[in-house]
Order: sequence, then structure tokens, then C-alpha cells
Amino acid sequence: MPSTASTARVRLDQVSNQMASSSTAPTHDVWHSTPFAPPDAIFALTAGYQQDSFDKKVNLGVGAYRDNDGKPFVLPVVRKAKQILASDDSLDHEYLPIAGLPSFVKATSKLIFGADSPAIKENRVVTIQTISGTGANHYGGAFLSRFYEPWLGKSKEEKIIYLSNPTWANHKSIFNSTGLTAADYPYYDPKTIGLDLVAFLDFLRKAPKQSVFLLHACAHNPTGVDPTRDQWKEIAQIFKEKEHFAFFDCAYQGFASGDLDNDAWAVRHFVEEAIPLLVCQSFAKNAGLYGERIGALNIVASHAGDSEGGADRIRSQLLILQRQEISNPPTFGARIVGLILSDEAMFEQWKGDIKTMAHRIIDMRKQLHELLVNKYKTPAPGPNGWEHVINQIGMFTFTGLNPDQCKAMVERGHIYMTSNGRISMAGLNEHNVEWVAECIDKAIRPYSHSESAARIVAMPAIISDTLLTTLANTFGTLAVVGIVAYQFLEINAKRLREQRDRELAASGGKGEVTPPASYEGLKAQ
Ligand SMILES: Cc1ncc(COP(=O)(O)O)c(C=O)c1O
Repeated sequence: MPSTASTARVRLDQVSNQMASSSTAPTHDVWHSTPFAPPDAIFALTAGYQQDSFDKKVNLGVGAYRDNDGKPFVLPVVRKAKQILASDDSLDHEYLPIAGLPSFVKATSKLIFGADSPAIKENRVVTIQTISGTGANHYGGAFLSRFYEPWLGKSKEEKIIYLSNPTWANHKSIFNSTGLTAADYPYYDPKTIGLDLVAFLDFLRKAPKQSVFLLHACAHNPTGVDPTRDQWKEIAQIFKEKEHFAFFDCAYQGFASGDLDNDAWAVRHFVEEAIPLLVCQSFAKNAGLYGERIGALNIVASHAGDSEGGADRIRSQLLILQRQEISNPPTFGARIVGLILSDEAMFEQWKGDIKTMAHRIIDMRKQLHELLVNKYKTPAPGPNGWEHVINQIGMFTFTGLNPDQCKAMVERGHIYMTSNGRISMAGLNEHNVEWVAECIDKAIRPYSHSESAARIVAMPAIISDTLLTTLANTFGTLAVVGIVAYQFLEINAKRLREQRDRELAASGGKGEVTPPASYEGLKAQ
């Protein structure tokens, strides 16, 4: 007689063979060589944050606005627009024209160039609705690749688009996928945590004539470092002299200063200076319409009409591009923004909503600065103290923290941020700013506070406490082993505490002990 176990094994094998023979998996594995792509850094960071159960965790990675309670924010004017749309029975679900919703397309170009713009008055602006700012960047790259006169007949390697170093993480990948080659131009100076204007201007002067440069119209991502108006004038002057092409990416109009016109100043100045340009727009941040994917690409032609170089010819080719890529743009976001931009009262309300967001962020900058400077007296990573926290513009601050310090922020503070030191100011609020400041302080001088030293030496006890509870609950008798472990760890903790006290005493009570080698440069500044 076979045993019950062997009968079960035979039965299991039978079932598994049956399952294998009835599988519809393709016999030729045509995806065999597909390499595993790395996860997107920002989204991986968010996933880590979501899995973290620590009560004081903070997400400063993602570039989306949050209110003072850390919640996503639906702009009141957007709520109102949605109600109006919901009660309008005349609206259907037909395809939009290929160029997009006409009321949106018309209004969005006025928003960026200004209603009095000579380019608009002379019908030289060609605008097409896009899948938010990303879609606009993609079309901008693809259009230049096909039609930018100085590149005709050139190879991908010769079609270079210069990007600020650093820039939005997606730029490189977008342009490399649209037939261009992405290269860096100097922009940010880590020593001053500010703009490296000299190197930037020098690069513009030395670049081949008619080069293409991507410029962040305002609220530079990721540094928060924008040129001043005088600096923009100098930049524009060289663009003129060298006949460079300005590829403006404007993802934060209104978000930078709280004023839509102010944030469009650089674009408008370049138009006045007759510099060839295009502008990508996004309504993700300034209207909080992240998921609706509403944006636009605007190309300024040298003249209207359908003669060579005319706006109509450009439009005709943009329509082909749109048709190939998405056929017709989506409706909902376009209706919301179209309504807000074309109704005077709603437009005013939107301006107020933008101010609410921008000023909350500006306020957070002030609070973080105040805590670092006056409460913690944290050594600053740059020569101008913590001024950069206040002076930088828009959603992001480049803190100046090095990768080790950023790692400490995540691992010890449960504060999720990218390793380049960028934090999203929108993730800060009155409930967490204190904790973030405290963690920045500790990341910069991890061993300099007696409080942080106490926290470090307390770790074994905290761990052993948790261990003990789990053991007692799960395996009653094993608790004895836990107690022994606890005692051992406590003795160890005491020894560490004493050692720390000795070090603190040796540093004259200031709590300053030799930092690890990687912090040496920071201490010197
Ligand atoms: C500089 C810059 N450009 C474009 C975008 C595109 O954003 P979206 O496609 O969500 O409009 C972003 C978003 O973070 C950005 O920071």
C-alpha cells in the first residue's frame, strides 16, 4: 500500500503536468532579451514613503503641491469649473479638433505671451494642445528634429539640445527619444548654491551659432535657482548675437512668485528681442491638474500665413505630429482650463488660488530658514548661510546636502528626498517643518548634538524593547532569551553612552566631535 504522502505527491505531479500541457504561454520567447529597466527614482521614493509606517515620515521627493495638512489640493476655482461642466447638458464626448479645444488653445498662448504680445497680434504664434508639459517637450523635440533649418540633413549626434546642468530628470530621456542628443550647459554652482552666470554666458558665447538651448522659464527644476531680470537680459543678448534657439519649458507659471505675468517675464523679453523660440506649458502645477494631462506647445513663427517659414505651415506639420502620436487630445482638462481662462471672474479666482499655493511655499521657506539659522544654528553648506532656502524660487529647494546627508535624512529621519539634495517645499507644512529642520541639522552634523547622541545610544534599547514584546507575544518561553539579550544590549548601550559623554566633555561641551571625512569640506565653509 502506498503511503498517503506518496499518493499526494503523485496527484500533485499529475495536476502540475496537466497545467503545464494546457498552458497557452508562447513557445517562442520573443521578449527573452528585454533588459530590466531601472525604476523611476522619484516614483520609487514615493513607494518607499508609502510603505514606511513611521508616524513622522515626510515625502519631500515628489513635485506635487500639498496643503498645510499634507493633502493634495483641489483648487477652489477648479471645483467651481467642474460643477459648471457637470451641469452643462450640451457637452458631449466627441473628439476634439486635432489642435485641441479652440477656447483653450487661444487662451493659453495669451497667458504665456501676454494679450498684447506682438507675436499674438501679428498671428505668428502656433499653439497646439498637448499631454501636459511632458507632451509639449516631446513635440518640441520631435518638431525641431524634423524641421529646424540648421539641422536639416544632420545626424542625431549633430542635433544637440543643450540642457542646464542639472535639469528635470525626464528632459534627457525625452530628447534622446525624439531624435536629438542631449548635452549639458553649466548652470548651477554647488559652491555658492546659486547660478554660475559666468560659466553659463561663456558657454552660450562659445557654442556653435544657432545652437538650441532649453531654458526653464521660471522656478528652475531641480535647483530653484532662476536668473534675475538683468541676468536674463544678458542671456538674451547672447542668444541674439549667436542666433541661438530658445526652447522654453514653462511648467510653473504663477507658482514661482504667485504672479502669472511676473513668471512669464523671461519668455516675453525673448519675444520682444525677436529671438526664435518655442514654449512648453503645463497646467499640472499651477492648476493642480496633474492627472488631467493638460498643456500646450507654442511655436513663434517669424511671420503669419502660409508662405515659407509662415505660421500656417508650422501648424500644418504640428497637426501631423499630433495625429501620429495621439490622434486627438483629451477633453476634460482642456475644458476646465479653457473655462477658467476665458471667464473674467474665474480667472481672478484662479490668480487668488495660485497666490495661496505660492505664498504657502514662500512661508515654508521662511520657517525652515528661521529654524535652521536661529533655533538649530546649523552649519550651512554654502558661503551665504541658509539664504538660498529663502532666495530660491518655486516648488524646489536645492538644500546643498550631499548624498550621504540625504541618505541619512531618509534612513534616520524617514524624510524622503532625492540624493541630489533637492526637497519639494510643497511637502513641508507647519506640522512637519520642525522635524525636517531637526533632521537636516542632524544630517549635517550627525554627532554634534548631545540629543542626537542620546538617540543613537538609545537605539539598542529601543530595538531590544520591540524584540522583547514580539518574543513574549509569540513564543512565551523564548522571552527568557529576549531578557538576556535585552540585558546584554543595555550594558552595551550604557557603555556607548559613557563613551559619548566622554567625547562631549572632551569637545568642551559644545558637542563638536570630529565629523566623518566626507563632511570635512562642509565644516570648512
Ligand atoms: C521642468 C519641468 N518640465 C516639465 C514637467 C512636466 O510636467 P507635466 O507633464 O506633469 O506637466 C515638469 C514636471 O515636473 C517639470 O518640472
